[in-house]
Amino acid sequence: MTLHELQQACAALRDEAPARIAAADSLDAWHELRNTLLGRKSGRLTELMALLPQLAKEERREAGAAVNALKQTLEAAFDARKGELEATASRGPTLDLTMPSRASWRGAVHPVSLVIDEIGDIFRELGFTVALGPEAESPWYNFTALNFPDNHPAMDMHDTLYLKDGGVLRTHTSPVQVRTLQSYAPPVRILAPGNVYRRDFFDATHAPAFAQLEGLAIDEGITFADLKATLAHFARAFYGQRTPTRLVPSYFPFTEPSGQMEVFFDVGDGRGARWIEIMGCGLVHPAVLESAGLDSERYSGWAFGMGPARIAMSRFSITDIRLFYDSDVRFLEQFA
Ligand code: PHE
Repeated sequence: MTLHELQQACAALRDEAPARIAAADSLDAWHELRNTLLGRKSGRLTELMALLPQLAKEERREAGAAVNALKQTLEAAFDARKGELEATASRGPTLDLTMPSRASWRGAVHPVSLVIDEIGDIFRELGFTVALGPEAESPWYNFTALNFPDNHPAMDMHDTLYLKDGGVLRTHTSPVQVRTLQSYAPPVRILAPGNVYRRDFFDATHAPAFAQLEGLAIDEGITFADLKATLAHFARAFYGQRTPTRLVPSYFPFTEPSGQMEVFFDVGDGRGARWIEIMGCGLVHPAVLESAGLDSERYSGWAFGMGPARIAMSRFSITDIRLFYDSDVRFLEQFA
């Protein structure tokens, strides 16, 4: 080993050390590297020192000074790196403040709920309050009390979902009429939203479970004129003040006379404005009032029932009812 060779070995170590020290990215890696370069037994620098005795006497002084200077340089670099690593460790995981923030995510009210809420607002102004009833009903509330004849096709197994205990999943919200009249004396003005169930196929215009919104007004002296004026007021408030409305005769066992209200409206399907049915309605049949224990000579009133999903479809130009059940955020967030 010549002085020149020793100096070259020192220079090589001085050149490579900074990058390797900077690359030590944990305290463990730092300790391992420090042992490799400066370890007392077999570190690179220790090996160089061990070579000094091989040199000629007059060269040793110079060589020793060079090795010592390198040792100090490396120790200083190691100390600095250790300080950095300890500071990072105590700070926890590194924060990258340049990362773009996550877009904020906001839910939206389901379009069917939106329609129920809006209709509720219109009727609340008219003094209506909300009433609820069970979805698992007895056939008496669902059919008998509502004046369905015993052989009515709606009661058929093909149309109604029966429960093991003899109950039914209510096929409409009309049983809430009877339940309410049993518990509250007239005047009664209620709105009853809720889910109903029918043995229907699930296609673009039918669902086996869907929401209904029932309305009921009972008092002394209520006539068909009240029904017509209130429902026309509702239709114009909801679809626009200039929307034409009409009542068309219909049939339900629990109303007499029965009708359906229609509005002349463009649902946005490209076919232009036409009459669309928005609800079934009628004067409450005296037999229903009597089932609920009311004197049908003294009290009268009217009721309506509508499907908020159908209303939402006409309102928002939606052509497939199944979209309401998919929970697809891309569909739902359009109503935010
Ligand atoms: N219950 C009826 C239906 O489900 C709707 C309705 C309610 C009709 C109240 C008249 C009065 O089709």
